[in-house]
Amino acid sequence: MTASHPLPLREALAHSCREIEQKIDQLLPMVPGDESLLIEAMRYAALNGGKRLRGFLILETAALFGAPHEAALRAAASVEFLHAYSLVHDDLPSMDDDDLRRGQPSTHKKFNEAFAILAGDALQTRAFEVILEPSLSDDPAIRAHLALALAQASGSAGMVGGQVIDIRGEGRALPLEHVKRLHALKTGALIRYSAEAGAILAGADEQDPRRQAIRQYGSYLGTAFQVADDVLDSTASTEELGKTAGKDENAAKSNYVSLLGIEGARAEARRLSTEARNTLALFDHRADTLRSLADYFVERRS
Ligand code: IPE
Ligand code: IPE
Ligand code: MG
Ligand code: MG
Ligand code: MG
Repeated sequence: MTASHPLPLREALAHSCREIEQKIDQLLPMVPGDESLLIEAMRYAALNGGKRLRGFLILETAALFGAPHEAALRAAASVEFLHAYSLVHDDLPSMDDDDLRRGQPSTHKKFNEAFAILAGDALQTRAFEVILEPSLSDDPAIRAHLALALAQASGSAGMVGGQVIDIRGEGRALPLEHVKRLHALKTGALIRYSAEAGAILAGADEQDPRRQAIRQYGSYLGTAFQVADDVLDSTASTEELGKTAGKDENAAKSNYVSLLGIEGARAEARRLSTEARNTLALFDHRADTLRSLADYFVERRS
């Protein structure tokens, strides 16, 4: 696929999904010995389905900025490792306590809690290893820059920080401003990273208006995604979602639905998705897939 002839979104997603899964498979080979069960758990967590939206964003923005496809594919597999780790830990009994993920037993149910924790840990380090290996790029500055951006998006000032606000908010009615911040961190940061990664891989300067626009796009898209996840938690079935429906309400979490109601949350997701689209004004038709993706992020049913 080339960015100059964007495929319709569904086809582009299916194509990228296959490519990303092949790369994940290649980057997580089975090994003999005591660690084999760990690798099995990592492969289970990383290869058991998933929409691959974060990886797709990297591939699309890399194409838009003219970064090499192979490097983008490695970065796409890397972000899916990081995301898979976040899901394995999110499902643990001490976190959201969800036994179902991507339509199958969660990693701690399939293996056990210790292996789920360790598989998550090792997926996280593998995510960084893959983007720091020289095969990603001849330019060590690009590799370092990407790893720094991923660390910032996934650590205490990003995804993990958001998870803490989420857990601490259980049973309390958080004000909208807090939930906005919670969403921007727990989900928004990694999605914004995924959008910006393509620009980083192409060596685009931080002050480059195109890079700033794509970062803004990722911010809106990331928040829109989590607002839509909140709506789906209340409106979709466990079968559609492949994860337990209604669990936010059961855990008395503050989310956009508890604050704005289903229709209010839907309207906010659509508003954020329109804002995301508007940030792409300075790109030509080559950004059309990203424009459609903004709609898909809030219209999806799973
Ligand atoms: C689920 O993310 C976790 C959230 C941040 C809401 P996705 O809905 O992207 O999960 P997969 O990868 O497709 O399973
Ligand atoms: C989790 O948010 C976001 C992560 C950082 C994993 P949720 O707890 O809402 O995700 P789901 O609904 O379990 O996929
Ligand atoms: Mg959670
Ligand atoms: Mg959860
Ligand atoms: Mg959720």
